[in-house]
Amino acid sequence: MDFDNVMRKRHSIRKYSMKKVSFDQITEICEAARFAPMAGNIYTIKLIIVSDEKKKQELSEAALGQEFIVKASYIIVVCSNLAQLKRTYSTKAEAYARQQAGAAIQNMLLKTTDLGLASCWIGAFDQNAIKRILRIPDDIQIECLLPIANSMEEPREIKKPDLKMILYFEEWGQETAKPEKKVPA
Ligand SMILES: Cc1cc2nc3c(=O)[nH]c(=O)nc-3n(C[C@H](O)[C@H](O)[C@H](O)COP(=O)(O)O)c2cc1C
Repeated sequence: MDFDNVMRKRHSIRKYSMKKVSFDQITEICEAARFAPMAGNIYTIKLIIVSDEKKKQELSEAALGQEFIVKASYIIVVCSNLAQLKRTYSTKAEAYARQQAGAAIQNMLLKTTDLGLASCWIGAFDQNAIKRILRIPDDIQIECLLPIANSMEEPREIKKPDLKMILYFEEWGQETAKPEKKVPA
């Protein structure tokens, strides 16, 4: 798929079929995380690939009862280790870690779409519960869960804001470009 197509086709999908995703596809999705930008090239991301049925059930309970993730073949748990980033960037480290985790997650979501698979960024969960389930050390931050599955959802159009809704020109609050330039709807 070309880039524009992948970007536009990516959607949060929450209905999964029982058809298994191959392990090779999961490693391809994880591979995509490697290519995200990282401040100072300090790589903070750690990924835990979970396929055990009991653990998936426990993760769904820790994700505030989001049952649909149990049906995914795999759940990738995206974590950040901030140790090196804090030594280099002190007070900036927390913000940088969140930003680079987001970049890695988006790469993974786009690769998932490119492979014709389904996922959904799961950010609502209990950190401590997931740490207990997966034996994650206290100083590690859990960023999100990514269930990876085959889709059972009909393709649908999700309304995104028009470009002009997110643009200012030259300064905060300036909604029109000077001289007037046409912004696509
Ligand atoms: C930080 C973050 C946390 C999210 N947490 C959840 C979640 O816990 N459960 C869920 O079903 N969707 C979650 N989503 C997905 C959003 O609901 C979804 O991206 C949004 O509705 C836009 O739809 P789209 O992804 O199909 O474009 C999350 C998205 C982000 C970026």
